[in-house]
Amino acid sequence: MPRETLHEMLFALLLYLACLLPEVTTDQKIKEVYWHFNTTELLMGTNLNASSVFNVEWRAQLNKGEKVSILTYSPSSNTSYINESYRKRVVFSHMNFSLMIHCVTFSDEGVYTLTIQLLNKQQQIDRSRVTVIIPVSNVRITSDTSAPYQGENITLNCLGTAGNAMSYSWQKCNQPLPIGNRTILSKDNTSLTLINIQQSDIGNYRCVAQNVLSCGHKDFILQLCAETGVSSWRSYGIYGYPGYLGYAIVIFYIFSWVKKTRKSCSKGQSDTIYENTAFEKKQPNSCKRIPPVYVRNVKK
Ligand SMILES: *[C@@H]1O[C@H](CO)[C@@H](O)[C@H](O)[C@H]1NC(C)=O
Ligand SMILES: *[C@@H]1O[C@H](CO)[C@@H](O)[C@H](O)[C@H]1NC(C)=O
Ligand SMILES: *[C@@H]1O[C@H](CO)[C@@H](O)[C@H](O)[C@H]1NC(C)=O
Ligand SMILES: *[C@@H]1O[C@H](CO)[C@@H](O)[C@H](O)[C@H]1NC(C)=O
Ligand SMILES: *[C@@H]1O[C@H](CO)[C@@H](O)[C@H](O)[C@H]1NC(C)=O
Ligand SMILES: *[C@@H]1O[C@H](CO)[C@@H](O)[C@H](O)[C@H]1NC(C)=O
Ligand SMILES: *[C@@H]1O[C@H](CO)[C@@H](O)[C@H](O)[C@H]1NC(C)=O
Ligand SMILES: *[C@@H]1O[C@H](CO)[C@@H](O)[C@H](O)[C@H]1NC(C)=O
Repeated sequence: MPRETLHEMLFALLLYLACLLPEVTTDQKIKEVYWHFNTTELLMGTNLNASSVFNVEWRAQLNKGEKVSILTYSPSSNTSYINESYRKRVVFSHMNFSLMIHCVTFSDEGVYTLTIQLLNKQQQIDRSRVTVIIPVSNVRITSDTSAPYQGENITLNCLGTAGNAMSYSWQKCNQPLPIGNRTILSKDNTSLTLINIQQSDIGNYRCVAQNVLSCGHKDFILQLCAETGVSSWRSYGIYGYPGYLGYAIVIFYIFSWVKKTRKSCSKGQSDTIYENTAFEKKQPNSCKRIPPVYVRNVKK
């Protein structure tokens, strides 16, 4: 008989036997269990009376592919076997069969099965799917520009430096962020882009990062930079904001200002002039608004 056929027959036989085993046919729901990384966690036991139990077994089918027998316990003889590699990490309760595991890591993820054989030949099976989680902490927002102007775009990136299995969402002024055609979220929601920023976009943006065990957030206050000194003077002047009377006043004040600064120069206090010239050269992405002196005087 060819070897393949023999293997197939053996496999079929094993499948047949597996189907006969009650634990396979029992339709047990799997509990979802979440463990904090690097803490001590408890797998719940049972409320059965130990005197009615013949045998207890804790097994795990780990996500990394291993099938392990962690321990077996026989209440009648009060003997237990604990897998060598778990001996130092687990505490087993002879009363309720719960299993405590110290310092859990991602390699502990998997499905844990507690099988209790009763003296009356019935058995009870409990399954828990364990996922190990690092709680969210230290959520940060970075932006591609610190000083956006009206009409520009800004992208905010949200990151949690710790935490796994995270999902992200955004709020504006404590309300869910309305997603429009000027508001674009990346697929995983970690980055938010605002297109063509307007005055109405000013406000507090919050990134909420969460996983099943925890949640964290970070705020970003969006402000718009004013125009630079030169262009604000232009928009005030050329586009007619002060009007002809305004121009007259501006010219008058420039005149008196020049006179004043000349005086103060002679007193050796030339700071204002240099401040003003320095301002004209300021880089466009500087956010601080310092209007030119003559405009400020007009306003007063
Ligand atoms: C696990 O926790 C212990 C103390 O609770 C700490 O000393 C250790 O550095 C932690 N290990 C990791 C990998 O976080
Ligand atoms: C079982 O016993 C352990 C320790 O003795 C206890 O921490 C746990 O709460 C008990 N209950 C269950 C349902 O496992
Ligand atoms: C368990 O059952 C025995 C007898 O069947 C009884 O004496 C004992 O009190 C029971 N224990 C508990 C905790 O119910
Ligand atoms: C005991 O645990 C180790 C490591 O988890 C595993 O490789 C081994 O197969 C286990 N032993 C049994 C009998 O399941
Ligand atoms: C079973 O053995 C443990 C020690 O391995 C002991 O602490 C416990 O009291 C024993 N329980 C019974 C019911 O004899
Ligand atoms: C803003 O983004 C839109 C769409 O991606 C693009 O068409 C536009 O050129 C961008 N504007 C600036 C100032 O980068
Ligand atoms: C954005 O949507 C509004 C309606 O909600 C529409 O009037 C406008 O043309 C859209 N703008 C772009 C750039 O698609
Ligand atoms: C992204 O956020 C929106 C709401 O702002 C939410 O409806 C959606 O489910 C989120 N997507 C992901 C992948 O988290």
